[in-house]
Parts: sequence; C-alpha cells; structure tokens
Amino acid sequence: MKPLIREMAESDLLQVAELSRELGYPGPLEDLRARFALLTKAGEGGLFVAERDGAIIGFLQVAVRMPLESPVHTEILALSITGRAQRTGAGRALVARAMAFTKERGITSLRVRSNVTRDVSHVFYTQLGFEKQKTQHVYALPLRVR
Ligand SMILES: CC(C)(COP(=O)(O)OP(=O)(O)OC[C@H]1O[C@@H](n2cnc3c(N)ncnc32)[C@H](O)[C@@H]1OP(=O)(O)O)[C@@H](O)C(=O)NCCC(=O)NCCS
Repeated sequence: MKPLIREMAESDLLQVAELSRELGYPGPLEDLRARFALLTKAGEGGLFVAERDGAIIGFLQVAVRMPLESPVHTEILALSITGRAQRTGAGRALVARAMAFTKERGITSLRVRSNVTRDVSHVFYTQLGFEKQKTQHVYALPLRVR
C-alpha cells in the first residue's frame, strides 16, 4: 500500500523524534519543537512525513540552497524510514516529494549528502537516479556564545 505523503504537523513531532533517534540523532523533543517552530515561521516548507495506517513511518526535510559560486539547488537534509517499513516504497515516495518541491520552485538540481557508512542509502539513491559527485570531509568548530 502506497504511503500518504503530507506536510509535517506539530503533532507529528513525537513520532518524528523517534525516527530521528533511529537515524542516530537522539536530541531532546523540545529542541526538535523549537527548530520546527523556527522553520515553520520562516515559511519555506520542505518538511514532509510518510504515513501508513495512521502511523508516521518516515520523514523528509528538503531545503533550497543558494551558494554564491554555484547554481541554486535543493538538498535533502534528512530522510528516514522506520526499520519495519523499510523497502516498502516510502523512501522513494518521499524523494518524489522532494523532486516535486524542487520543480515547483523552478530548480533543476536536487542533492543529498550521505554518510559513507550508510551503505543502503548509497544503493537507494543510485537506484533512484542520483549520481555520485564527490566525497568530502566535514569539519566543525565548537564556539562559545554568551
Ligand atoms: C535509505 C532509506 C531512506 C531507503 O528508504 P526505503 O523506504 O527503505 O526505500 P524504498 O523501499 O523506497 O526503496 C527504493 C529502492 O531503493 C533500493 N533499496 C532500498 N533499500 C534497499 C536495500 N536494503 N537493499 C538493496 N536495495 C535497496 C531498491 O532498489 C528499492 O526498490 P525496490 O524495493 O523496488 O527494489 C531507508 O533505508 C532509511 O531510512 N535508512 C536509514 C537512514 C538513512 O540512511 N537515510 C538516508 C540518509 S541521507
């Protein structure tokens, strides 16, 4: 059965937090709520859930990227399908929504960065027609803010 793909609502966040945890991001629900509120206020959209039989089985965040030195594109920032629902077409359906989000804005490129350790995701994205562009290291600098 095809999942229902719809915009994420505040009331979905508890289940989204559980999925995030599964993906390896165990942050507090309150932090998720605060970021959801900011994103909603910004009004850019890009937050979607996949629902089947009334339960959230996956979620997607896609956002517009506008670097000065390269063409505007969209990027999948998060995509997670719960273990029990994997391989049932929900990931494909959410990526189709990301493609529609991209085209609706007249943008012609959708990107995703995926950890080299996520073997399944590499098969998945390749199967969906994504082509590997490059491999990167990610650096972060912790800063104190008063
Ligand atoms: C990667 C992920 C999003 C795929 O979602 P999914 O709903 O399970 O994938 P789908 O059922 O839509 O699969 C689409 C196609 O991808 C390929 N695929 C997906 N999972 C696969 C697997 N475990 N082994 C081989 N091929 C696979 C298949 O070609 C599949 O089509 P088919 O089932 O008709 O053969 C999901 O496994 C997941 O959430 N993984 C953990 C988090 C993650 O890695 N997220 C991506 C980070 S950017």
